[in-house]
Amino acid sequence: MAQTTRIAVTPGDGIGPEVVGEAIRCLEALRGKHNLALEWTHFPWPSHAWHQEHGESMPEDALAQLKAYDAILLGALGDPGPVDDPNRYLLTDSVSLAPLLDMRKGFDQWVCERPARLLPGARQYLADERAKDIDMLVIRENSEGEYVGQGGRLRKGTEDETATQMEVFTRRATNRIIRYGFEQARTRATERASEGRRRNFRTLDGHNCESQVCLITKRNALRYWGDMYTEAFDEISKEFPDVATHHELVDAACMKFVQSPWAFDVVVASNLQGDILTDLAAVLSGGMGVAPSCNLNPTDPNMPSMFEPTHGSAPDIAGQGLADPTAMLFTVARMLEWFGRKDPVMAAAGKELFEAVAADLAENADARRGTQEIGEGICQRLLA
Ligand code: IPM
Ligand code: MN
Repeated sequence: MAQTTRIAVTPGDGIGPEVVGEAIRCLEALRGKHNLALEWTHFPWPSHAWHQEHGESMPEDALAQLKAYDAILLGALGDPGPVDDPNRYLLTDSVSLAPLLDMRKGFDQWVCERPARLLPGARQYLADERAKDIDMLVIRENSEGEYVGQGGRLRKGTEDETATQMEVFTRRATNRIIRYGFEQARTRATERASEGRRRNFRTLDGHNCESQVCLITKRNALRYWGDMYTEAFDEISKEFPDVATHHELVDAACMKFVQSPWAFDVVVASNLQGDILTDLAAVLSGGMGVAPSCNLNPTDPNMPSMFEPTHGSAPDIAGQGLADPTAMLFTVARMLEWFGRKDPVMAAAGKELFEAVAADLAENADARRGTQEIGEGICQRLLA
């Protein structure tokens, strides 16, 4: 009997609890069906409600408590409070979202994986029919870079006020994220081959590969980290002669994401540039309502990874049963596949959930359905 995998469920704010409800419904169905050694515990934090009662978004020992779990399943964070409060968004932006960054940092979740594949039934924002072939995986460096939070404000409130915001890039974090990108490219090529959907990328010296990694920098203007990323990329690429390489400056990458997104496979970007590119990638592949996100620590088995849809708390529709749980359910599928690294039954359950959500999407392209209706439909598919 496999050791029990334990999930800390943190529904959070807004539509978080509603989409998490559907995640649990599907997890229960899969656990029953496959006898999965899976357990979960709900936490009322981090959340706006906890903040209102305790003056902080989560207890002081929150990370220590969460560390005992194998994964964290997060709904959404952010509640702007009463509509007539002129400062309502200030609290949302800097306070209620802070736990997200605390978890990424505290558990060294150094990879942020955001797949962007335009599946049948998802909204196609691009008119070009080739958009149907969009299938990329954006890998965002998630531990440092522009997000280190070092800096400060000097002479605050005076005319000479100065704000500094440091960007920090270490060779260690650079190497590991780039190597991870190449490994994923290889894995994706193998998976595609097994499903009979091969892709072809040409290397600069003219040979053909079935996968590609595109490195993003802004090395023409930000040359110190840009050059270090480029050197690391060149070195590590030698270990992966079967993977084609490419580089784009981030501004040109934005343009090409819109112009020909089907030409990308794996994309590796810094923390902030990856943040921006993944909102764009999400909309190219159907929107935030279908976009999963995984914050992973692939190196330390004692650190939980965190899984969250990227759509946010959507306070305007919270509590009305209108939120689409699709992004959450795709995220849960990836979480199970993550557990599947050690347990083939979990991997199969993850694939099954992905396929059920994808089939549901394909068959209900223009349907107007509520949160529970979508979740129930997917569950019925799982149990059929
Ligand atoms: C995301 C979000 C976060 C980020 C915010 C909420 C701090 O935009 O997960 O992409 O910038 O990483
Ligand atoms: Mn973002």
